[in-house]
Amino acid sequence: MADKDGIKATKDYGIGIPQETRGFHVKGCNDYGWGMKSRLSKIFNPESGKALMLAFDHGYFLGPTSGLERLDLVIPPLAEYIDCYMGTRGGMTTCIDPAMTANKAIALRVSAGSSILDDDLSNELISVSIEEAIRMNADIMATQVFIGAPNQRQSIANLSKVINTGNAYGIPTMGVVAVGKDMERTPKYFRLATRIIAELGAHVVKCYYTDDFESVIASCPVPIVIAGGKKQPEKDALEMCYNAISKGAAGVDMGRNILQAEDPLAMVQAVRAIVHQGIDNKEAYDMYLELKAK
Ligand code: 5RP
Repeated sequence: MADKDGIKATKDYGIGIPQETRGFHVKGCNDYGWGMKSRLSKIFNPESGKALMLAFDHGYFLGPTSGLERLDLVIPPLAEYIDCYMGTRGGMTTCIDPAMTANKAIALRVSAGSSILDDDLSNELISVSIEEAIRMNADIMATQVFIGAPNQRQSIANLSKVINTGNAYGIPTMGVVAVGKDMERTPKYFRLATRIIAELGAHVVKCYYTDDFESVIASCPVPIVIAGGKKQPEKDALEMCYNAISKGAAGVDMGRNILQAEDPLAMVQAVRAIVHQGIDNKEAYDMYLELKAK
C-alpha cells in the first residue's frame, strides 16, 4: 500500500501490524537504538529468540542462600551453558572472573534496601549508579518492582530512574515483579504488575510463572522471562520451564532450581535444551537423569 506521496507503507514501516512480526527478534524492541539492540541480542539469542539467565543475586537481601554460599565455585562450571549472568555488583566483581564474561551478557542487580529480617521487603532504593553499571559492562540493569506493597511508589520511582539513566546510554532495564510475603500470586496480579512495568518503559520483565500464563504474555508488550522461585523437584522445575516457554516466555532467569538441584550441571543443560532447542519437559528430564548418571 502506498501513501499519498507514493511511499510504501504498512509492512515496511511496521504500521498496523503486530509487533512480533516487525523484524527485531526481541518483542517490542524494534524501534530501540543500536546499542540497546546489541545488548539485548547478547541476552536473547537471535536464532531462538530466547534467553537462559542464571540468577545468583539472592544475597542482596537473603544473605548466603543455600547452594549459593560459594559463588566463586558454583557459578563457573555452569557458565558455558548460560547466556547471561544475573548478579549483584559485589557478587560479580568478587566471584566472576572478567574473562568468564566473554560472549556472556551481564544483568546487574541495581536495587537494594531491605533484608530478610524486615517484614516489608519493598523499601528499596537504587544502590548502583549508572557509571558503575557502565564500568561493569552491564547489558541490562535489574530493579525490583513491588506493585501493591507499602513502598510501591518508591519502587516505581526506582524503576523509572533506572530506565531514564539506562536509556541515555543504551542500557536496557529489567523490571522484576516482586512478590512479598503476603502478596497475591494470581494471573490477575501478574497481568497488572507486568503491564505496569512495561508501560513505564522497562525493556524486559521478570515474573513468576502462573496459571493462565498466556494471558500474562499477551498483555505485556515486552519479553517476559520467568523466575524460578523456590526449589522444586527437578522434574517439576523442568515442567514449569517447558510450560512457560511453550506459552510464550522469552526465557528463564533461574537461580535456586539450578543451583540447588542435585546436579546443577545436568540441570542447567536440561533447562538450556528446553529454552533453546524447544525440547519438552519429559525429554528434558530424561536428559537430566542421563547427564546426572554420567
Ligand atoms: C528476586 C530475584 C531473584 O534474586 C531471583 O529471581 C532468584 O531466582 P530464583 O527464584 O530462580 O532462585 O530477582 O525477585
